[in-house]
Amino acid sequence: MADLSINLAGIKSPNPFWLASAPPTNSGYQVQRAFEAGWGGAVWKTLGEPILNVSSRFSALSYNGQRVAGFNNIELITDRPIEVNLKEIYETKKKFPNHAVIASLMMEPKREKWHEIVKRVEDVGVDGLELNFGCPHGMVERGMGSASGQVPELVEKQTYWVKEVAKTPVIVKLTPNITDITATAEAATRGGADAISMINTINSLMGVDLDTWNTIPHVAGKGTHGGYCGPAVKPIALNMVAECARSPYINVPISGIGGISNWRDAVEFMLMGATGVQVCTAAMHHGFSIVEDMIDGLNNYLDEKGISSVMDIVGKAVPKYSNWGDLDLNYKVVAKINNDVCINCNKCYIACEDTSHQCIERLNDENGNPILKVREEDCVGCNLCSIVCPVDGAIEMVEVKDRLPKMTWNERQAAIAKYSMANVSSE
Ligand SMILES: Cc1cc2nc3c(=O)[nH]c(=O)nc-3n(C[C@H](O)[C@H](O)[C@H](O)COP(=O)(O)O)c2cc1C
Repeated sequence: MADLSINLAGIKSPNPFWLASAPPTNSGYQVQRAFEAGWGGAVWKTLGEPILNVSSRFSALSYNGQRVAGFNNIELITDRPIEVNLKEIYETKKKFPNHAVIASLMMEPKREKWHEIVKRVEDVGVDGLELNFGCPHGMVERGMGSASGQVPELVEKQTYWVKEVAKTPVIVKLTPNITDITATAEAATRGGADAISMINTINSLMGVDLDTWNTIPHVAGKGTHGGYCGPAVKPIALNMVAECARSPYINVPISGIGGISNWRDAVEFMLMGATGVQVCTAAMHHGFSIVEDMIDGLNNYLDEKGISSVMDIVGKAVPKYSNWGDLDLNYKVVAKINNDVCINCNKCYIACEDTSHQCIERLNDENGNPILKVREEDCVGCNLCSIVCPVDGAIEMVEVKDRLPKMTWNERQAAIAKYSMANVSSE
């Protein structure tokens, strides 16, 4: 069995699976049950003021039989008094000294407020702090959450204030509601952050009821934008983690969050640079016990790969993530249809004919049965046919071996510039 324990900027936990700051971490009762179920850490539901909330709060995007493909909420931070949370954090940490208990904090952008809350949570024994610069609704009207998180100077300044007094590692949780997350990630590191976490939820409106014309969800007939999360946001989150991981200016560990539902998702985030992961929607959908499969799956994966520590996979895929200008323009794949498996549903034919490069032909085999065949010289290797194909193994994308030597866009432009310069100087 591999060693699953992680160390994120000095915060240790028995495995990389933490519950994200959200309803599953709202109380000591919940966090302690989560630890018993196997979670390695928990970021407590964000502490701050005021203690207010709305009803109703959640909605979900069901897609093609998946009940919760995406999840949306308009709730605020903790709805329990700070004293109660502090007492329960203290009790939880006493009972589970080896698990990571992180206090998520959201304050008005005032130095003394940050100093005060940091001292209070550190006094009850938290292992680290997570600064919530991410929530997109409710608190932003008072300059908190993503209102702070969208302004690099505010991220830097508030991180700095926290670092002035913090004795435990400081994680800065970033909002995805920004054009370039590396700008705020860099600001966090300039402020002294020991780690960054991403993503918080994405601005969203889940839907409109066609009969009442109310938004979904609504509060007494009025709606507002909420925060989107769950499986649908995973590709957005993974890209943001990868962009930060490959930035030469961001040299702190990353806690990956966003749509992580199973061990495979977690491994992808870790390969792309996350030192550990946080989960919210999947736990809200299926309960704490999902962590058992996550631990087993991760263990088996590492054993099969002969890797002795989960920390050894962190960032291993980052060098494979690059700029478009570094892609080999002469690399080519083409689709091959396996007629033994193909059920002739014509989905690939329709997709290619209507929306791609018209390179699939409908033919008959020697017995007169209909078959589909790719005209390889016209196939651009876009993958669309294999994406719409409902049968595993019916379409394979195969590399074309005889092709021109590797040439990227950047190499091409450099060669053109060199050629132009040579011509100018010989004139
Ligand atoms: C109902 C709900 C409440 C949340 N509350 C908080 C919060 O108080 N503080 C915070 O930092 N993030 C909060 N989040 C965001 C999550 O911590 C997490 O960043 C986001 O849901 C993405 O992860 P997921 O796709 O696994 O859900 C909340 C999310 C949900 C769904």
